Amino acid sequence: MSWIAREIAARGGEVSFRDFMELALYHPRHGYYSAAAPRYGRGGDFLTAPTASRWYATVLAGWLERLAARVGPVAFCDVASGDGSLLAELAAVATGNAGRALRFVGSVERSPAMRSVQAARLDARLAVPLAVVASIRELELPRGPVVVHACELYDAQPVHRVVMREGVLCELRVAADGDVCRWREAPAGEELERYFAGHGVVLEPGQVAEARLDAEPLHSSLLELGGDDGLAVIVDYGYEARRLYDARGRRGGSLAVQQSHRVSRDPLAEPGERDLSAHVNWDDLRRAADQAGWREIGLSGLAPFLIRAGLADQMERLGVGAAAEIDARTVAERQEIKRLLDPDGMGADLKVLVQGIGELADAAAEELRVG
Ligand SMILES: C[S@@+](CC[C@H](N)C(=O)[O-])C[C@H]1O[C@@H](n2cnc3c(N)ncnc32)[C@H](O)[C@@H]1O
Repeated sequence: MSWIAREIAARGGEVSFRDFMELALYHPRHGYYSAAAPRYGRGGDFLTAPTASRWYATVLAGWLERLAARVGPVAFCDVASGDGSLLAELAAVATGNAGRALRFVGSVERSPAMRSVQAARLDARLAVPLAVVASIRELELPRGPVVVHACELYDAQPVHRVVMREGVLCELRVAADGDVCRWREAPAGEELERYFAGHGVVLEPGQVAEARLDAEPLHSSLLELGGDDGLAVIVDYGYEARRLYDARGRRGGSLAVQQSHRVSRDPLAEPGERDLSAHVNWDDLRRAADQAGWREIGLSGLAPFLIRAGLADQMERLGVGAAAEIDARTVAERQEIKRLLDPDGMGADLKVLVQGIGELADAAAEELRVG
């Protein structure tokens, strides 16, 4: 019997897709994110902003420096810090001017394997105190302004999956048939009905959609890290509810299966061997912010965010800007930057939501030149 068939049998022979995805990504032994070596990044199944180019960290470091010049040194927390790529690059940049911008670094990563990878990379490199923990609730921060960053945290959270059948919202569940996992349909429970109704969404006949019921509470706890002087920088794939659930765009939902930089079709095949993700409903995160009294500073593509956060200044500073001589180094660095700006890829598809409260929110709005 396969490991997943055993797990499903132990849960009564059938589970929600949410529980299937939870097992496939986070099972302590077989989960995709439990493997000893990271499965994403340049040699892996897909790229994230920090693993696509070190320029992501370079621009962020410059922006943090400008924020700190206004509000004083900040505590920086990376939630879902993965293999520590971003923190390692920040540490490298932070030995220069940006070092004065940071007073504490927090790293929240659920996977013990990824935390070990980070320990080997980060220990000796940071000049400020570092805390690496498994969950947001375990992170204790010193008082003062806090910037919380999360890249592809939310799209990696398990989702329920539903389909509309003859006016009835049905849940797509997963049953194990021998070693093969198969879809099973059952009327959706009240919680799922409430989720879609709460977002004003009525699915069309046959339309498939995902709901991430845990997103809003998770975002509330992430915002708590910021106290009353905080900034949240959330980088992820997603749309507002009205676009995410528009049948003209995504009749089959947004669930994506990735292996070796290719999208594959069957979300139930080879659990633990492929990445599963689904788009974020930005309105879930907006509700959490409204509840906590945070305000939205901007939601844009990655490319416009990086440009507003000071990409051109950093290019000048590092000698590869507009006036630079076009030599091999300039060409190579500009190639690195292009990975993040690609209008047919990450630069437009990956979005950055910035929310804030207190003095940091004002400083961020000014430093992003958004008002
Ligand atoms: C797609 S990877 C992104 C890693 C990194 N942020 C990046 O962009 O390169 C998602 C990471 O989120 C972690 N993760 C998922 N849920 C989490 C949670 N609730 N708290 C902390 N880490 C989480 C996973 O273990 C995985 O390492």
